[in-house]
Amino acid sequence: MSPRELTFHIFRYDPETPEVKPHTQTFKIPEEPAMTLFVALNKIRDEQDPTLKFDFVCRASICGSCGMLINGKASLACKTLTKDLPSDITLFPLPAFKLLGDLSVDTGTWFRDMSVRTESWIHTDKVFDETAQEEKMDDDLSLEIYEAERCIECGCCVGVCATANIRPNFIGATGINRVSRFMLDPRDKRDEQEYFEVVGNDDGIFGCVGLMACDDSCPIGVPLRGQLAYVRRKMAVAGWHRK
Ligand code: SF4
Ligand code: SF4
Ligand code: FES
Repeated sequence: MSPRELTFHIFRYDPETPEVKPHTQTFKIPEEPAMTLFVALNKIRDEQDPTLKFDFVCRASICGSCGMLINGKASLACKTLTKDLPSDITLFPLPAFKLLGDLSVDTGTWFRDMSVRTESWIHTDKVFDETAQEEKMDDDLSLEIYEAERCIECGCCVGVCATANIRPNFIGATGINRVSRFMLDPRDKRDEQEYFEVVGNDDGIFGCVGLMACDDSCPIGVPLRGQLAYVRRKMAVAGWHRK
């Protein structure tokens, strides 16, 4: 059987040249066995248009660079096999982030700001003793923390989030997940009120409409539904109100 011909409709826009309006450009390439969108996009850039912008680093679903809208759904291009897609493939950049050009967006600044807002480090007065034995943690608890820690900061859950697209300061499911990760951690000595100050407002939990597009879109299955529910429950039990 001869290989399929794939037709790509790719969003093009360079903020440096605003006189060229946003548009989609069509490229055709033959499909190859086990072809990922990473391979396809490189082929297009190498053989047809060296100006095409997109981001990749690891090619293995680890770095989080290659999130984009693939036929309208957010996912990682390096993880997506063309055989699982129809022959017509539309690629758009993730919305909600600053567009750098074509399929490339600036997720780094967004995630750095979120990490600063959520103070993403263990808050403790304990002085680190490098000679001491590693402290033990309950297996189930460490697994829960590990699951929340698996976020690769790809931005897919933010790009598909209705609230994130209309509220630039919304912390997103990934931000709420980050808070929940530290709430779970017994080594972090912040009290609940300190966490709620960060997420207990319209830019956090109260801005979330709860339809779980974030959970549906996470390409590596971070349990966002459970993490959001955990923070909501904690706030309800503590009687935290919208401010
Ligand atoms: S459930 Fe909340 S955080 Fe997730 S996509 Fe919807 S509004 Fe955004
Ligand atoms: S929670 Fe999932 S979708 Fe959201 S940034 Fe992390 S890895 Fe990406
Ligand atoms: S290139 Fe790193 S996650 Fe896709």
